[in-house]
Amino acid sequence: PTSDARAGEVGKPLVIAHRGASAYAPENTLAAIDKAAKLGFSWVENDVQRTKDGRLVVLHDDSLRRTTNVEKVFPDRAPWKVKDFTAAEIARLDAGSWFSPAYAGVRVPTLEQYMRRVEHNHEKLLLEIKNPELYPGIEQQILKLLGNEGWLDRRHLERLIVQSFSAASVRTVHELKPALTTAFLGKPPVTQLQRYARFADLVNPSYGSVSTGYVASVHDLDGPHGRPLRVFAWTVNDAATARKLAGYGADGLISNKPDVVRAALVAD
Ligand code: G3P
Ligand code: CA
Repeated sequence: PTSDARAGEVGKPLVIAHRGASAYAPENTLAAIDKAAKLGFSWVENDVQRTKDGRLVVLHDDSLRRTTNVEKVFPDRAPWKVKDFTAAEIARLDAGSWFSPAYAGVRVPTLEQYMRRVEHNHEKLLLEIKNPELYPGIEQQILKLLGNEGWLDRRHLERLIVQSFSAASVRTVHELKPALTTAFLGKPPVTQLQRYARFADLVNPSYGSVSTGYVASVHDLDGPHGRPLRVFAWTVNDAATARKLAGYGADGLISNKPDVVRAALVAD
């Protein structure tokens, strides 16, 4: 069974593998999305940034330090910001050994490589535009790449959601490609939700800030495509929290341990 087999049923949220199945394989790598697919999860989440020479890559932090061996390969380049390295330099880095020796040699994927593996695995993608303030024009660039890879065709659109903590970035994506599903990361006050509903189909808050009342307020509004706004909460990694959030009516749970969340919901 896939994670979204029961999506849409009351109390059975969609389960999304956060940065891939990141508790079990190095986050945001092809190995992490392969692991998610192997566990039976079709939805994966990632983080997209830009290199010094303008290539799109998949990495969470604005620095390469935590999730690669950049410090060893380029000792004089502190603080090792993604935006200060070329794609060729980043391609030399080991993005797996920090996680486990079993993943030695795993690379930081370009967005192009990543999209092709998602396609190959028949997965669906919650794509986060990370730190867009550092990368002017990244929204247009991401949409161009997605278009080139066929992800903006009508039959592919339901397999893609684009999200960001930056409301301006989400609005830009919505305006450039109105048919695309978009999500705002954060928890706008209830009084402000109507404004967000003009350009975002989902409101995705940190799970600790969610309540039954908040989820109901979000569901009360229709998004830009005339459907009720949805809520995907993050990052839910244990059974008790998963059951609680499902009880609140969350439509999706973003998790490093999607198997744990799925087991908790099935046992309900
Ligand atoms: O998808 C939600 C979550 O990824 C947002 O936080 O810091 O893990 O990108 P972060
Ligand atoms: Ca993210």
